Amino acid sequence: MYLAFDMSDSATPQPVTISPIQNEAELFQALAIREVVFIEEQHVPEGIERDAEDAKAYHVLAFQGGHAIGTGRLVMLPQAPERQEGTWAQIGRMAVLQSSRKARVGSKLLETLEAEAKRRGVTGIKLHAQLFALEFYKKHGYEPLGAVFMEGGIEHLEMQKKF
Ligand SMILES: CC(C)(COP(=O)(O)OP(=O)(O)OC[C@H]1O[C@@H](n2cnc3c(N)ncnc32)[C@H](O)[C@@H]1OP(=O)(O)O)[C@@H](O)C(=O)NCCC(=O)NCCS
Repeated sequence: MYLAFDMSDSATPQPVTISPIQNEAELFQALAIREVVFIEEQHVPEGIERDAEDAKAYHVLAFQGGHAIGTGRLVMLPQAPERQEGTWAQIGRMAVLQSSRKARVGSKLLETLEAEAKRRGVTGIKLHAQLFALEFYKKHGYEPLGAVFMEGGIEHLEMQKKF
C-alpha cells in the first residue's frame, strides 16, 4: 500500500495577511477575537469592551489559512492630546489569539494601522498600553508618558508616537 503525506500544513506556516474589514460579518469576527482575548482571557468587563467608536473606526483583521487570528482598530481623535498639535488618531483593541502570539502578527496589525493613519495625514498616534505590552509598543517607536491609570481593571500607560 502506498501512502502519500502532505506535509505542507505542518512544515510550512501559512502566510499571515492583514486587511481592513469589508463587511459586517468581518466586524463580528473582529469583535469575536476581542471577546476571547479581552473578556475571556483578561476579564475586561463586557460592558466597556465594545463602545461607540466601533461603528466608525477603521478595523483590521489578520488572517492565516482562512482563519481570523488578530485584530486592531484606528480611531480619529476630535482633538490633539494635551500639549500636542495637529490631527491625531488612537490605535486600540489590539488583540492576537494566544496561539498566534510572538510571531509578528501584532506587529503587522500595528504597521497596517499606522500606514492608514499616515495615509490620512495624522501628526501622531496615541494609545493606552497595558503595562505588560509596553515593550511591544516601545519596539514600534511609542514613548510612554504620564502616570499609570486603570482601564477595565488593568494597569495602563498612555503612549505616543509622532510621524
Ligand atoms: C500585545 C499583542 C497584540 C502583541 O502581539 P504579538 O503578535 O504577540 O507581537 P509580535 O510578535 O509582533 O511582537 C513584536 C515584538 O514585541 C515583543 N513583544 C510582544 N509582546 C510582548 C510582551 N507582552 N512583552 C514583551 N515583549 C513583547 C515580541 O517579543 C517581539 O519582539 P522582537 O521584535 O524582539 O522579536 C499580543 O500579545 C496580544 O494580543 N496580547 C493580549 C491583548 C493585549 O494585551 N493587547 C494590548 C492591549 S494594550
